[in-house]
Amino acid sequence: MLSHFKEILSEKVESRTAVGAFNTFNLEITQAIVRGALKAGRPAVVQTTENAVKYAGLKALYHLIKFTIEAESGQVPIAMHLDHGKNLETVKACVDLGYSSVHMDASDYAFNDNIKLTKEAVEYGHNQGVLVQGELGNIYGKEGLIKMQQGEDLKKLMTNPDQIEEFISRTGVDTVAVSLGNLHGSFIGQENLDMPRLQEISKKIKTPIVLHGGSGIPENQIKEAIKLGVRIINVDTDLRIAFKEALQAELKLETDQVDPRKILKPSVARMSEVVVQKIKIFDLN
Ligand code: G3H
Ligand code: ZN
Repeated sequence: MLSHFKEILSEKVESRTAVGAFNTFNLEITQAIVRGALKAGRPAVVQTTENAVKYAGLKALYHLIKFTIEAESGQVPIAMHLDHGKNLETVKACVDLGYSSVHMDASDYAFNDNIKLTKEAVEYGHNQGVLVQGELGNIYGKEGLIKMQQGEDLKKLMTNPDQIEEFISRTGVDTVAVSLGNLHGSFIGQENLDMPRLQEISKKIKTPIVLHGGSGIPENQIKEAIKLGVRIINVDTDLRIAFKEALQAELKLETDQVDPRKILKPSVARMSEVVVQKIKIFDLN
């Protein structure tokens, strides 16, 4: 059931679990996310980055997702979110189109400029009842399988707990993305969340915390982060890996199958299993 982001969030804030926010840019990934949430019987978020919008076209992608959720999610609440909106015009276009939550990612700007741009997005979104996510601190990496640069000092990218209260109060965001050593992409064995930093942030704010870079973070750290206040966890790369692995296996079969709908079916099923697994890990009850 297509739901407003705030309905999904309210349940999470009380229940000490996190909702999975899964990235899509086409029909097959969208189907996998919705079917996985339905199978798990738990709420989820289907999100699109600005690059996904560029790839598929904003209106085409929005309506494809909206109608897939309406057709296939049964009574399971699923919301739509713009992820990593770098450009205020894109953020505004998504608010106008009907997204119930948008991410104004101004984390590359200096602190006051980040606040100024994020506040503009908040005013525009709240004017239409849309939630806005802000981002403080930079999240290293890029969705997909990239290598970490040697000697990268992640600490300097991390969210400064001494700035978080001011960021929240001056922007008015509804959720906040933080940088704790979480990385975009799947850096198995290299992702270590700075839990004391998360604890310090969590003590200072009531705003639901978003953990980006959900792929590649060990399960025990995910659970610890949820206990310390993370309420939304973003996942993209693990779906891409599932897509590719299932497709490679399918193409290895010596068949004369040329129908993409049949060739992509195992990928949809495999990604859907990943969504179910993630939702189960994110639910501490
Ligand atoms: O915004 C999207 C997520 O942060 C994706 O991160 O590719 O590491 O799962 P991930
Ligand atoms: Zn992200």
